[in-house]
Amino acid sequence: MNKIVIAIDGYSGCGKSSTAKEVAKKLGFTYIDSGAMYRATALHFLNENLSPLRAEDVEKGLKGLQISFQFNPTTSQQETYLNGVNVEDEIRTMRISERVSEVATVKAIRTALVAQQQQLGQKKGVVMDGRDIGSVVFPEAELKLFMTADVETRAQRRQLELLAKGEQASLEEIKLNLESRDEVDSNRTESPLLKVSDAIEIDTSSLTFSEQVEQIIDLVKKVTLN
Ligand code: DC
Repeated sequence: MNKIVIAIDGYSGCGKSSTAKEVAKKLGFTYIDSGAMYRATALHFLNENLSPLRAEDVEKGLKGLQISFQFNPTTSQQETYLNGVNVEDEIRTMRISERVSEVATVKAIRTALVAQQQQLGQKKGVVMDGRDIGSVVFPEAELKLFMTADVETRAQRRQLELLAKGEQASLEEIKLNLESRDEVDSNRTESPLLKVSDAIEIDTSSLTFSEQVEQIIDLVKKVTLN
């Protein structure tokens, strides 16, 4: 299999991360969760009591920010580290979901994270998911996908994920959070979420997880055979 870059963008909670992770595993590619980087940044700003909307706080926050990923052989998952501390579970909580879109509107923060994402993907053989991967991070990606699903389905899936981690949240609360993040992510000035013209849309509302993965693997085969 040729080493290509697969960019997966789309709305919050439509299964981008879990699908991207499985596709990467099947292909022997590296998976990079760019949303985890925005989440870790939001956690850092909260921990340090910094406002992402104040320029001097942003400068200070970015100076003291180090994000990395490490594979955990026990869980067979790649986990997110903030300044050397494993924050994988903490960044998935509603507390962070409620703050992260604001952090992701800030140009200086995006510039810093995009530079790190480009560096992580420079050797190719990567699957990266986010909101601006096909448009800004890897505009030359060989395969660009745009994933969607209706908001009810997304909220139900997210509720199950949170429950599996011991966090209870109502469907209504989750739905409101997904809708408000979609709204902020799609309408911000800096790198808004959009479907670029060369992206292939995949609506996962009525697809099973393995169907989603198989559709993408088929597309990868087509791209790499050409
Ligand atoms: O993929 P996620 O839900 O974990 O992402 C969390 C937030 O980070 C999302 O609401 C928007 C932001 N984000 C972004 O602006 N650009 C990316 N490439 C990835 C995420």
